[in-house]
Amino acid sequence: MSPDSRLPIPDSRLPMTDLLSSLDSAVSVLRQRVGAPPDVAVVLGTGLGDFANTLTEATVLPYAAIPGWPSSSVVGHAGTLVVGTHRSGARVAALAGRAHLYEGYPVTRAVFGVRAMVRWGVRRIVLTNAAGGINTAFTQGALMLIDDHINMLGTNPLVGPNVEELGVRFPDMTYVYDRDLRAMALEAAAETGVPLQRGIYLATLGPSYETPAEIRAFRTLGADAVGMSTVPEAIAARHMGAAVAGISCITNPAAGVVDEPLDHDDVMQTASRVRGQFIALLDAFIARMVQR
Ligand code: HPA
Repeated sequence: MSPDSRLPIPDSRLPMTDLLSSLDSAVSVLRQRVGAPPDVAVVLGTGLGDFANTLTEATVLPYAAIPGWPSSSVVGHAGTLVVGTHRSGARVAALAGRAHLYEGYPVTRAVFGVRAMVRWGVRRIVLTNAAGGINTAFTQGALMLIDDHINMLGTNPLVGPNVEELGVRFPDMTYVYDRDLRAMALEAAAETGVPLQRGIYLATLGPSYETPAEIRAFRTLGADAVGMSTVPEAIAARHMGAAVAGISCITNPAAGVVDEPLDHDDVMQTASRVRGQFIALLDAFIARMVQR
């Protein structure tokens, strides 16, 4: 794909009709190729894409086959939508790969996939990511349930004219990470024996990692983990009324927590080392969602 084809909508102040009609074009392809909306959509973070391979009777759609859907250029992000049956019987959409703001996408485009899921009729969105550990109690490879977030991206996916058909102008963010889903994730952790930390996720633009001074500042602000995604998707999904959950894989101590440079290969390696635990937790979590 040429770099230019990623930027057909260059301005975040995109006309409302464009966003709605792009979403509706995407949804009509999803209806044609897949049918009814699945029970849950899971956005798979860096190195966590394997979960998509556990779904059976799957329809696999490259993002490029869905109009308006941006693809990711990041190593460790596949760029495919897999909709299939989970071992619990739930129908699940796995979004293997996401568009990040640091790739140059306007924030309204970066959340397109999640918005398309919710517009299709998906009511639960699980956002996963690789993150740096700010909380010094977190070990490398720990999983963290996101209780809340801090948006340090300097932007918001709702900037621009509000699309009333999607949600209100000033949506509440008190309960952005759904309390029932959080309770189910903790039950799933207890049931599977997979340790699950809890904490606050802080989003930065990237793509440079943070400085040690920034990490000390973020700790003072109350952040436990830092990453470059998730927050725009959580805001957009909440804007549209979906229930959101977030799980971070702490792939590395954040900058300056230990006296070593950060490396994307380490992030990938840690995520791949814990994928068994991650999938076990996600399996039990999804099973609980459809039991109720
Ligand atoms: N900082 C920001 N994003 C990240 C990190 C980090 O340390 N690790 C994985 N994603």
